[in-house]
Amino acid sequence: MQTLTVGLGDRSYPIHIGKGLLAHAELIQMHVPRGRVAIVTNTTVAPLYLEKLKRALQNVAISSVNVILPDGEEYKNSETLNLIYDALLKNRCERTTPLIALGGGVIGDMTGYAAATYLRGVPFIQIPTTLLAQVDSSVGGKTGINHPLGKNMIGAFYQPRVVLADTDTLDTLPDNELAAGIAEVIKYGLIRDLPFLEWLEKNMNKLLSRDTEALQYAIARSCQNKAEVVAADERESGERALLNLGHTFGHAIESGMGYGNWLHGEGVAAGTIMASDLSQRMGWISAQDVNRIRMLFERAKLPVVAPDLGPDKYLELMGLDKKVEGGKMRFVLLKKIGHAVVQADVPMELLKKTLQVCCAVTVPGLQSTQRPTLGGG
Ligand code: NAD
Ligand code: GLY
Repeated sequence: MQTLTVGLGDRSYPIHIGKGLLAHAELIQMHVPRGRVAIVTNTTVAPLYLEKLKRALQNVAISSVNVILPDGEEYKNSETLNLIYDALLKNRCERTTPLIALGGGVIGDMTGYAAATYLRGVPFIQIPTTLLAQVDSSVGGKTGINHPLGKNMIGAFYQPRVVLADTDTLDTLPDNELAAGIAEVIKYGLIRDLPFLEWLEKNMNKLLSRDTEALQYAIARSCQNKAEVVAADERESGERALLNLGHTFGHAIESGMGYGNWLHGEGVAAGTIMASDLSQRMGWISAQDVNRIRMLFERAKLPVVAPDLGPDKYLELMGLDKKVEGGKMRFVLLKKIGHAVVQADVPMELLKKTLQVCCAVTVPGLQSTQRPTLGGG
């Protein structure tokens, strides 16, 4: 087991990464003062891992209330959030009852928000079971739900007490979900860790074939990057915004296509190609750089061509981005590979060109994984 720390003073917490950690409830025991927790999970993860977690908790004399939600990004909303509050109230969960998120980023974000708001705040524990959640969403305390008008628009910063990433849970993850997690892994290399990007270029096949050592390395290195950024800028007044490379475009894709039709990581992949194209148009990176980035996403079997929502729809959706300041869109762009910046003044003609070129257009000589269909969900 490897343990990293997110350094936030008296709210610092450990991230434990390793095989078989689900059975080690002693790692969370100290955060359960009254021997009772509420586990929030979903209909896919519950049959796979709920019993195992419950048994481990019972072994250290912890009982649980179990909340099993419908599965899917399309359920990351206020109605589903209410189901969590209903169960907590019906079962008389108290301020001393921690909420455990057992699942991917959707469960983690929703459970975290429920923990931030139920009884004005109860302890929160993350047990991420997707690669995306293990490398990104379970760390850093961003919690929330979607609004029909925009992705993750309602939420709170609320840090977990501990993160337990059991890499064995990745064995049951579908291939496309593994790839979606790799999109966020590539992000760290692009924004601040060139040696890691080079490692990914050498080891992508190992990650795709779920080589245990390679996965553990990628998870730990990603969490290390994220922990450093979060410790420096917990509430995203500066550097943390860089973690949103590709997300301004990606969130527009996700909500424009209907939540659940494009995976978050898929939107981030196609969105990162758009951000890279825009960075090239700004004169910062070369066409070869953009190609290098595209090839890495393609090797991870991620989409590199965005759906054609039309420039106006993109502009409308991106206008709702959380980074908008004084009505102005801000983009995370690449000054060079391994170094991202936040840029407010992006000429509209360059942005429109990116929207035209990157959407549903096959890149000559490269295999496209585009999905041209619109209007789902
Ligand atoms: P997800 O939570 O929808 O999980 C993907 C799918 O895998 C779901 O069907 C889930 O039930 C299933 N699943 C989970 N664990 C499994 C396992 N071990 N075996 C088999 N199936 C399993 O999606 P995700 O990619 O984990 O997370 C995406 C969400 O995370 C988005 O809502 C995004 O906005 C959010 N996010 C949040 C942050 C943050 O900092 N809070 C960062 C990145 C993404
Ligand atoms: N995934 C972006 C962040 O945590 O800030």
